[in-house]
Amino acid sequence: MIKTALITGATSGIGYEFVKLFSRGGYNLVVVGRNEEKLDEIEQVFHHVEITRIQKDLSKPGAAKEIFEELSKLGITIDVVVNNAGFGLLGEFDTVSLEEQSRMIQLNITALTELTHYFLPYMKKMNDGKIVNIASTAAFQPGPLMAVYYATKAYVLSFSEALAEELKGKNITVTTICPGATKTNFGAAANVEHTIMFSNAMDAKEVAKQSYEGIMKGRRVVIPGAKNKAGAYAAKFLPRSLTAKIAKAVAGEK
Ligand SMILES: NC(=O)c1ccc[n+]([C@@H]2O[C@H](COP(=O)([O-])OP(=O)(O)OC[C@H]3O[C@@H](n4cnc5c(N)ncnc54)[C@H](OP(=O)(O)O)[C@@H]3O)[C@@H](O)[C@H]2O)c1
Repeated sequence: MIKTALITGATSGIGYEFVKLFSRGGYNLVVVGRNEEKLDEIEQVFHHVEITRIQKDLSKPGAAKEIFEELSKLGITIDVVVNNAGFGLLGEFDTVSLEEQSRMIQLNITALTELTHYFLPYMKKMNDGKIVNIASTAAFQPGPLMAVYYATKAYVLSFSEALAEELKGKNITVTTICPGATKTNFGAAANVEHTIMFSNAMDAKEVAKQSYEGIMKGRRVVIPGAKNKAGAYAAKFLPRSLTAKIAKAVAGEK
């Protein structure tokens, strides 16, 4: 039977690359995003698999439930959830719009948690499934000047690793993807393109390729790119006050 992967943030960057890889892997797709034109394009380009498009703003409370209910009505069950949609914001905490930071928490944390909660019971019933949560190398240390963004990604990593252990022994894998700086719309949206951390950004295609391989192998954590891996491991052994200092420095101008 053909499996179905739900991908949030399918309209751009890493998510769009996942659309290519999962469709090539023979999955039917449920693609979620706000950008109607890009959703139209996905429907036209990836017509060799079944595409269900859902236009939804996941930063609005209740959005995950609406997606679950819409798919239930259509009789579509989900075998793979890729919680990829997310955004960041650069700036001193008290100067960044609280409304925007709350939307970020709702998208990066709440929608991801709720979608996982809604789709996991079916995976448990089938004893088969994959949950893929996109964190970041930001998950490994505090991030001054992007304090809330880094904290949302620390949540994603902690939540996903805990869930992976809960599900141990079942045929359901939970993979956390931790990309470093990647060339997508993220940089412009977060206003970080001009910062040191974006000096050696990876291509989204390569990030998604390494991630997809890790997902298919059932890896718990995937850190694409050798430099990102080295940075993440170093962060485990350095004092957090020092890693915070480094994160603050790389959030500065190139
Ligand atoms: N690029 C990097 O440097 C980097 C590094 C580490 C981690 N990440 C993470 O990777 C993930 C993908 O980001 P990307 O780099 O591919 O950025 P991107 O090109 O900006 O793509 C973000 C995706 O999220 C969707 N999205 C944003 N706000 C949304 C909302 N309110 N409701 C529904 N969908 C929304 C966008 O779709 P619509 O605009 O159609 O809604 C878009 O498809 C994010 O979780 C990000 O935090 C990125």
